[in-house]
Amino acid sequence: MELKVFPDYNELSAAAAEMIVGCVRSKPDALLCFATGDTPKLAYQLTSVLAQKNNVDFSSCFIIGLDEWMGIPPENTGSCHYFLHHYLLSPLKINQRQVYLFNAMTANEEDECDKMDSIIAGNGGIDFVLAGIGLNGHLGFNEPGTATNTMAHVAILEEITKTIGQKYFEENVNVSNGITVGLKQVMQAKTLLMMANGRKKAPVIKRIMEGEASIHFPASLIRQHIGGVLMVDNEAASQLETPFK
Ligand code: GLP
Repeated sequence: MELKVFPDYNELSAAAAEMIVGCVRSKPDALLCFATGDTPKLAYQLTSVLAQKNNVDFSSCFIIGLDEWMGIPPENTGSCHYFLHHYLLSPLKINQRQVYLFNAMTANEEDECDKMDSIIAGNGGIDFVLAGIGLNGHLGFNEPGTATNTMAHVAILEEITKTIGQKYFEENVNVSNGITVGLKQVMQAKTLLMMANGRKKAPVIKRIMEGEASIHFPASLIRQHIGGVLMVDNEAASQLETPFK
């Protein structure tokens, strides 16, 4: 794994956009898996600008969503569906047939997870994952304690995930489960780009870099990923021991 520290959120986001566009440039039919959340917002906005500027064609790639809040319909502005369409898929003019996002309204959770597993397996694994990090170390909705051999599954969300998750919604929501690509599939991705910015993520970055790499803080497993890149801004790196102090 490689750690990269950037002076600020803008530079961090620009570098992440470069990586996304670079992935599709070198493998036009790549399978990309994207997280939602505040962290990657700007990176996604910059991706379509950069793709256009550098003439990189996204029409042969396939995109999957990393996770979704169970029971939240796609038209809800707080859903991962809405977010990905708004910040990434629409600006990049991605065709519906190039996308699979979890159906959080499904009556058959098992079937929904199987669908995602077959898309990933059919491609021979994921080429590129962009993930954020929850304050409890979750990776997608792989909450602390998730086994490393986990495929797509429905997870019971921790209290902190539910409380913080409320920030994405305009109204009060009562969500208790999340559906997510599994830890095994994320860890087997060729590239795992994990991003964090801001002072509130500083303890999380410290724990990832200086604590034990374990399922009790799933994001820390990036340390065992050969293609792992942890990109943070100065604020998120502010609690690290030298040389980043
Ligand atoms: C949410 C998402 C995750 C995301 C994380 C961090 O729970 N489901 O995929 O990585 O929170 O979000 P943020 O970037 O808003 O801090």
